[in-house]
Amino acid sequence: MESTVSMDMLVSLCKRRGFIYQSSEIYGGLASAWDYGPMGVELKNRVQNFWWREMTQLHDNIVGLDASILMHPRVWEASGHVENFTDPLVDCKKCKQRFRADQIPEDNMQTHTCPDCGGELTDPRQFNLMFRTHLGPVESDGSLVYLRPETAQGIYVNFKNVVQTARMRVPFGIAQVGKAFRNEITTKNFIFRTCEFEQMEMQFFIHPSEDEKYFEQWKQERFEFYTKMGIRASRLRFHQHGPDELAHYAKIAFDIQYEFPFGWKELEGIHNRTDYDLRRHMEYSKKDLTYLDDLREGERYIPYVIETSAGLTRTVLTVLADAYDEDEVEGEKRVVLRLHPELAPITVGVFPLVKKDGLAELAQEVEQDLRQDFATFYDQGGAIGRRYRRQDEIGTPFGVTIDYQSKEDRTVTLRYRDTMEQVRVPIAELCDRIRRAIREYRRTG
Ligand code: GAP
Repeated sequence: MESTVSMDMLVSLCKRRGFIYQSSEIYGGLASAWDYGPMGVELKNRVQNFWWREMTQLHDNIVGLDASILMHPRVWEASGHVENFTDPLVDCKKCKQRFRADQIPEDNMQTHTCPDCGGELTDPRQFNLMFRTHLGPVESDGSLVYLRPETAQGIYVNFKNVVQTARMRVPFGIAQVGKAFRNEITTKNFIFRTCEFEQMEMQFFIHPSEDEKYFEQWKQERFEFYTKMGIRASRLRFHQHGPDELAHYAKIAFDIQYEFPFGWKELEGIHNRTDYDLRRHMEYSKKDLTYLDDLREGERYIPYVIETSAGLTRTVLTVLADAYDEDEVEGEKRVVLRLHPELAPITVGVFPLVKKDGLAELAQEVEQDLRQDFATFYDQGGAIGRRYRRQDEIGTPFGVTIDYQSKEDRTVTLRYRDTMEQVRVPIAELCDRIRRAIREYRRTG
């Protein structure tokens, strides 16, 4: 039986075990801003690394980039964000609450009444989602800059640089992970929608005639990425954007959705952005961003772009929600995070059965050795069952226990988180056994 997790359970686990805390908590918190604690930062880094390896190391035609968050303000005029990156907002004249018009039930919009208090609503007004700030000490129009609302533009403005310096030939991709900012009105459901978040984006540059082929290819590949990461396929699906959902740059778009505790929601967008962005940057910068294709008899054209755009912080929420499970061990409830071993903040917990008789020393020796290859955690306090349980709760996939027999024959017990199976393994073979188990990991439970 699959157990389902409520958001309250997840938020509480994240706080209790050091994954995610509310930002500025000692000052009462800041709405929609969150901090990643010792376990959370490890998990987030591992999700990022999983994506990065998948996109760059496993594709010989994709390279990386790390562009700055602040860019020339003309970038956002060219990209269409100054003009189009808006939400229609309505205010309640009575309770002063602000809503996104497209998220208010149809009935309330027709009667112009607030869904919360029944008060009168204003007409919708367009509100730009970009955060604005100023470069330098003087706040004038000339110093206005934006916090980027997507990482993608950093890739487009470097298209020529990458072609020339990394000698990439179409078709090729550029991958990037980084912060993005949107002044979102509806910021609820924990880290699902926040004003400051991280994206993992890849722009794939292609010949215009091949857009349908590559769109389909990336759609499938990105779906499989999540199942590879251990996410249940039954909780993933595609959603095609209708004409009124399409972003201003997209010809066709599909979301990969996940069934969160609060319903099916977007996890990643795959967009055919055509030559929209490069063409606009050519117009606004007056620089030639065309590509000379020596494989197509010197044809010169503006490449089309297939974009895969995932939220890193949203993927962290997905991974946590999907991994959360509860079962019973010897009549006691066990909370277990069934994380893919490559994502777990700690890979191996090491425990001496007791502290005395030289077991702690041997356990420390084993831990020091494992530490060279894996993230380890040493714990010698309390009943062994409780120590296992603490590691299960943060998703540690392997436990190594050192007992009296270990002193005699240098073997230890290796315990698997998901099955709770325990096997006897020579200390000399531990590293290999764990490495193999990670490689061959298939989700159970
Ligand atoms: N470059 C294209 C782009 O930004 P998007 O559909 O607006 O497309 C892509 O965003 C992904 O970024 C989303 O699927 C989601 O995972 C993540 N994302 C967008 N807004 C977010 C927010 N306010 N908080 C957290 N993640 C967000």
